[in-house]
Amino acid sequence: MDHPLVLGIETSCDDTACAVVDGAGRVLSSVVSSQLAAHRPYGGVVPEIASREHLSNWPAVSREALERAGVGLREVEVVAATRGPGLVGALLVGLSLGKAIAFAEGRPFHAVHHLEGHLFSPFLRAPGDPAAPEPPPARFVGLVVSGGHTSLFAVEDGAVSTLGETRDDAMGEVFDKVGKRLGLPYPQGPRVDELAELGTPGARPLPVSRFGRFSDGLDFSYSGLKSQTLLEIERLERTLGAIDLGDGSKPPQPVLDLLAGFRAAAVGQVLDRLDRLQQRQPIGTLAVSGGVAANRLLRRELPAWAERNGVDLRLVPLVYSGDNAAMIAHAALLRHRRGVVDDLFAAEAESRIPI
Ligand code: KG4
Ligand code: ZN
Repeated sequence: MDHPLVLGIETSCDDTACAVVDGAGRVLSSVVSSQLAAHRPYGGVVPEIASREHLSNWPAVSREALERAGVGLREVEVVAATRGPGLVGALLVGLSLGKAIAFAEGRPFHAVHHLEGHLFSPFLRAPGDPAAPEPPPARFVGLVVSGGHTSLFAVEDGAVSTLGETRDDAMGEVFDKVGKRLGLPYPQGPRVDELAELGTPGARPLPVSRFGRFSDGLDFSYSGLKSQTLLEIERLERTLGAIDLGDGSKPPQPVLDLLAGFRAAAVGQVLDRLDRLQQRQPIGTLAVSGGVAANRLLRRELPAWAERNGVDLRLVPLVYSGDNAAMIAHAALLRHRRGVVDDLFAAEAESRIPI
């Protein structure tokens, strides 16, 4: 175990997470308590419920994280919590807990940007991998695909600048909305992905949004694909009758084919923007993270794309693709190494903040 030991806290949305990362960036423990059951009856995350659930989950989650890591709170040397973006009431719970622990134990505190957590998460090692994590390279391109973001970043010596982002919906959001329309329970993204595996993408193809077809722009747009997919569902319902997959029944083949076509167009857009960026300047290292980095098609297509283009691809380990606190502790460790510390009393929770 290397020093400093970092305690990470993440409560930006509906997962209560706590983790311990050591000074080499090894994840000693990462506990994520899902609130899915509490939000499911409402078909999405209810902010007020999320805050209350964080408060009630915290004692068990933090105890488990420390126990699994085999350390006491006294041994923690750096404390970190997510400051945003996210649901303010939910963020406030974790941020206040982190501040209180740092204050009580007299430890330095880091208020971490949620995206910074995702951005560096591809450099975490998967559980069971005995090798110490490599420090991220000084320069790399980060692609974050989640329920709230679809963004390309250039990272240079810890400084992050945005290369491109979605102009409307985020990629994960659109997977969720398409799934919701079909009656699937929240979060619909993983289930839409599973169903798309059973379809033939070429049977009902949807176009890849080029968004500035003749430009080399790096922004994304997913609302057009969403509308087209919803329209196609409506069209299918005219012949098949109302589609409701909420009861777990096997969907008709045309629906599976449509989902496969939808997923192929969604992933195709990512590859299109990467092509554009690669044409501008060779990417070098590409680090891909966020909840949608769990997508099966994306995880197949990206290595093939990277191989064709001679790009060094770092795909986030599956366990750290969704929201977790290990990525927050890890980002804090990198900040700590660069000599950054946050003022315990000035750090505030914010719903929208630039990276
Ligand atoms: O990073 P994350 O856990 O939370 C945010 O910061 O948004 O990402 C969650 C998003 C949700 O929209 C979820 O449906 C989507 O990631 N997601 C997927 C898959 N797994 C999770 N979308 C497509 N395919 C998947 N396999
Ligand atoms: Zn996230």
